[in-house]
Amino acid sequence: MKKIGILTGGGDAPGLNAVIRAAVLTARQQYGWEVVGIREGFDGLIGGKPTIELTESNVYDLLARGGTILGAANRGNPFARPIEQADGKVVYTDVSHEALDRMNDLGLDGLIVAGGDGTLSIGQRLVDLGAPIVGVPKTIDNDVAATDFTFGFNTAITTATEALEKLQTTAESHHRVMVLEVMGRDSGWIALFAGIAGGADAILIPEIPFSVHVICDKIAQIRANGRQHSLVVVAEGAKPVDGKQLYYNMGSREMDKRLGGIGYIVGNHLAECHDAEVRVTVLGHVQRGGQPTPRDRLLATGFGASAVHLIHEEKWGDMVALKGTEITTVSIKDAIAMKFVNPDSYWVTIARDLGIVFG
Ligand code: F6P
Repeated sequence: MKKIGILTGGGDAPGLNAVIRAAVLTARQQYGWEVVGIREGFDGLIGGKPTIELTESNVYDLLARGGTILGAANRGNPFARPIEQADGKVVYTDVSHEALDRMNDLGLDGLIVAGGDGTLSIGQRLVDLGAPIVGVPKTIDNDVAATDFTFGFNTAITTATEALEKLQTTAESHHRVMVLEVMGRDSGWIALFAGIAGGADAILIPEIPFSVHVICDKIAQIRANGRQHSLVVVAEGAKPVDGKQLYYNMGSREMDKRLGGIGYIVGNHLAECHDAEVRVTVLGHVQRGGQPTPRDRLLATGFGASAVHLIHEEKWGDMVALKGTEITTVSIKDAIAMKFVNPDSYWVTIARDLGIVFG
């Protein structure tokens, strides 16, 4: 009987628990394997941390549960682990050998690593050192190049679309301009899809730097035509034509930088350029929380089950991906490339056809 492990790294995403459930059920029902859960991403492989035995009985209710029962650490990197020295200084140390030893000690014949580009890159580096790892791509941002969609994205755009619908009613009652800032890091997928689905008048995304006057003109035109309210969606990574992305927190380290705040800048400009009231909402981590939508549950289930089959085939360094309606296999190396919105693509063109402006 084989023994396999599963870990979830990076930020959480709705559907991670469904991946765990599908992997456990497939491994046990189809192959009769033992499955252990590694806690807190790659951190769980360092320092002899206990694992969790995963069986049918402790995954049965995971399909619709948000987050990850294994925990996720988006700062855990065995190739650069912060270790405090006697003098209080923090030194980043390569402890990857510890992670490999731990996998051996646990008797793992394969490990499923579910994560975004950062976690998958670490997985690939461990594969290069001989670790039997397969990948599952995960992020609400949908910015992984090798797959058409990632699970978590559909839940995020559902939440963002609902937010726009709720903002619309107040916008209409008070004749306001409502600005909604959404997540997405350096990509505009969440803003684009939620903006179209939620009836936005302007969608600002990192891939198309904006000029505020274009949005002001659009709002003026809407008002001249008789509608006194409007909706603007701003991706957290959006930037003006002559400006830079905005960060809440620059942090002392690159990994501490957090995008956000551009919604307020846009809101302030819009308040200046015409006399309507403007209100700004930052949706934040609400987009990452809660139950996965049925579509995300399906994708996560397919990914979890297919990852187990990859282990059976010993396809180390491969990961599952969605191409059209099929779940296929690509190399983790391909997954490390980011996927951005093409300004000339179908959905941007459709949005422009509808009169939505991108600034
Ligand atoms: O990558 C997912 C994501 O939610 C991004 O959209 C966002 O910029 C970031 O993670 C937030 O990270 P954290 O949870 O560390 O604040």
